[in-house]
Amino acid sequence: MIQLIRGFKDILPGEIDIWQQIEGTASALFEDFGFKEIRIPVMERTELFARSIGEDTDIVEKEMYTFPDRKGDLITLRPEATASIVRAYIQHRMYAVDSVQKFYTIGPMFRRERPQKGRYRQFYQINAEVFGVASPLIDVQLIFILMTLLNRLDVTDVQAHINSLGCPECRPNYRQALAEFLVKLDDRLCADCRRRRERNPLRVLDCKVPSCREALTDAPSILDHLCDDCRQDFDTVQTALDRLGIVFLTDKRLVRGLDYYTRTTFEIQTGALGAQSAVAGGGRYDGLVKMLDGPDTPATGFAIGLDRLAEIVGQKKAAAEKPPILFAAALGDEGQQQAFQWVSRWCDQGLRAEMDFGGRSLKSQMKRADKLGAAYVMIIGDNELVEGVVILRNMKTGEQVRIAVEEVVEKVGEIISGS
Ligand code: HAM
Repeated sequence: MIQLIRGFKDILPGEIDIWQQIEGTASALFEDFGFKEIRIPVMERTELFARSIGEDTDIVEKEMYTFPDRKGDLITLRPEATASIVRAYIQHRMYAVDSVQKFYTIGPMFRRERPQKGRYRQFYQINAEVFGVASPLIDVQLIFILMTLLNRLDVTDVQAHINSLGCPECRPNYRQALAEFLVKLDDRLCADCRRRRERNPLRVLDCKVPSCREALTDAPSILDHLCDDCRQDFDTVQTALDRLGIVFLTDKRLVRGLDYYTRTTFEIQTGALGAQSAVAGGGRYDGLVKMLDGPDTPATGFAIGLDRLAEIVGQKKAAAEKPPILFAAALGDEGQQQAFQWVSRWCDQGLRAEMDFGGRSLKSQMKRADKLGAAYVMIIGDNELVEGVVILRNMKTGEQVRIAVEEVVEKVGEIISGS
């Protein structure tokens, strides 16, 4: 038997209600905040991700699904959406349409990470990106949107972590101070961190290996190295979060796994998912549009891990089943034809109706109606059809009425209005 690829998964009908609920709640919220939906391709030229996410990140170094197409061009299944949205923003000159643009998108991403609970090789994200707003208040609004969404989904066991990664003015000083600190740690760092230390020292702060985490307890904090502008920007973020009543934790180790960030970064973390604690992450990326050959444009955004959020919401409530309201149990050819006509029309009118296409015995059709949890069964037998009647059975009470075929539409209308 051909099986799923490792790290990929099916989302089965029993789980889909939760996904639809999350996607619906998120879209409605985004629309209220002036975001417009955008859809971008699942594949891009590899160079787009290498340049934007950064050559020295785990994603670009070892997690991308990259392959030559038939002409030999290197293409990559998108590991995230921000780079593609920036590419689309520049390519379609969207900055010329309006100086402020807000987009959201929902779709699959691909990273070849080691699969475990909450970590997949194809996973889904809900992304929000804002272009053209330099004010840190927009970062606060993004965090507010995230917390509101989680609240509407009854996900309350979460904590917002925030940090500032400075700007091209002040970050090099911090990088230098951190590199000098790391040199002294020699054997206490894992092999990966010893390598990262040279090329991208901030990445070391992100390491999950316990001995590295311990060795870094006294590492210098980026917050002590911010320039005046970055410090003021981060103060504004914290004050505005406070005034909105959002509880947050300032986390000097929050460096995120992508290189394009500047200033405020944030993550929403939870204890509900074991090792995979981040439900959402994001931050400001003021240099990226320019770096990808667009105009100098401030930008900020976030992505929610939809698989992870669905798991948390799913732990809270079993998917609400939607059983058919009416099941047409038909005997004989003519009965089946008649049932088929009715069922098709009822579904079209918004009444969840089902039938059995197998022409099986009445007993097995009733059994199936019961299993599906149908509220009513309409029994259409050869004899009844000759007499011009059908039997309507209320499955809860067992009550049965014979009604004339001409009354079926009216009766079903009553059921629809009562359902
Ligand atoms: P990220 O932190 O790499 O950020 O991913 C965002 C979220 O996607 C994570 O917090 C997590 O919930 C989910 N996620 C990531 N990898 C996996 C995986 N292998 N399996 C399941 N879920 C996963 C970004 O992707 C940035 N583009 C976010 C952003 C948008 N920053 C600014 N704008």
